[in-house]
Amino acid sequence: MLSIEDNKMLIETGANTPMGKLFRRYWIPALLSEELPAPDCPPVRVTLLGEKLVAFRDSNNQIGLLDEHCPHRKASLFFGRNEEGGLRCVYHGWKFDACGKCVDMPSEPPESNFKNKVTIKSYPCQEYGGIIWTYMGPPDEMPDQPVFEFTLVPPSHRYFSRRIQESNYFQAIEGGIDSSHISFLHRRVHENPTPTQLAVENGAPKFEVTKTDYGLLIGARRDTKEENIYWRITQFVMPWYALIPPTTNNSKLRTGHAWVPMDDENCWHWTFSWIPESPIKEADLAKMKEGDHELHAALIPGTLRPVQNKDNNYLIDRELQASKKNYSGIKGIGIQDAAVQESAGVIVDRSKERLGTSDAAIIVARRVMLNAAQGLENGVNPPGLDVEQLKVRAASVMLPRGVPFQEGASELLKLNEDDFVYSY
Ligand code: FES
Ligand SMILES: [Fe+2]
Repeated sequence: MLSIEDNKMLIETGANTPMGKLFRRYWIPALLSEELPAPDCPPVRVTLLGEKLVAFRDSNNQIGLLDEHCPHRKASLFFGRNEEGGLRCVYHGWKFDACGKCVDMPSEPPESNFKNKVTIKSYPCQEYGGIIWTYMGPPDEMPDQPVFEFTLVPPSHRYFSRRIQESNYFQAIEGGIDSSHISFLHRRVHENPTPTQLAVENGAPKFEVTKTDYGLLIGARRDTKEENIYWRITQFVMPWYALIPPTTNNSKLRTGHAWVPMDDENCWHWTFSWIPESPIKEADLAKMKEGDHELHAALIPGTLRPVQNKDNNYLIDRELQASKKNYSGIKGIGIQDAAVQESAGVIVDRSKERLGTSDAAIIVARRVMLNAAQGLENGVNPPGLDVEQLKVRAASVMLPRGVPFQEGASELLKLNEDDFVYSY
């Protein structure tokens, strides 16, 4: 439970709010590189932290991220012409470069120097790991760019997607770090269950949550019928990332998420899938691209809204639900998450909830976020800006009884960047 004031601080992300100021101190995943596939390709609209923006790739491959609205009379630059090193408004021809400088103003007389006085809001961008990142904070506070395992693997080893989630970002984070719901929402029937699958069915894990320099290390412990304990270890990395443990010990596919606020009622749900050691198999990749995959949902063509959405009850199949093969009757782990998280309302009133012991991780995560935002208001630098601290992994592992998970899994939880030396 949170007070109404704390809930407000947690969910509001506009430029003048404490959480909005906090988020503007981090690099933000803004778009997939493939959304701007070539120089001078059509621009793309993207709303981030309540700001309507338009992204484009100029003739020199430089990425620009500008205010969506032209400073002249506010027409949308989404309709702009992306040509010869800038984005030109189609209303009266004003043209802006990737840094937001007005470089042409054909509607004014040639002798006018008005164009030198006009700029448009622009944010710096970087492109690496298949992602276009932006920084929307004070220029002199810009941190180094974050390095995650999924940004280090070759393109053949990874598949990323982003889609709209119609809820406040923090509901999505809460789902991402809540390891107990996998025993219910994502339950599947296994014909010959392995010890870990049986353990996953234990719906009342005990949580051990450790605060770290970058966020939280979250151990969810489930007893098994054997000597060992099954640990699922999730990493929460400030300000909105979760690295999710594989469901079984031998699964090579790794999963990470980012939940980036579009505005206070919607967020970008990013899913990062990657295999550190090898390319993703063609058949799996095809399923991901088609949206016929547990984690990568099919989208309505031309939009980033899932085909399964709240207007059609996520295409819930009551017969499937009754058959017990699928606990929720909703297809796809990612959409199962979206369904329950969106169904709580676009903004949950956390002053009215009833939390239990399995909510331990989200209780600490809320505190970490609120303390970071409050700390920044008091001049304390936020956690998770030192890229060296971000070199971590999630893990699922069987450990002998009595061994603390932080020690037993310590090697599995480290990311060794040197393992990823390769050339594109
Ligand atoms: S509104 Fe863009 S040039 Fe006039
Ligand atoms: Fe989930």
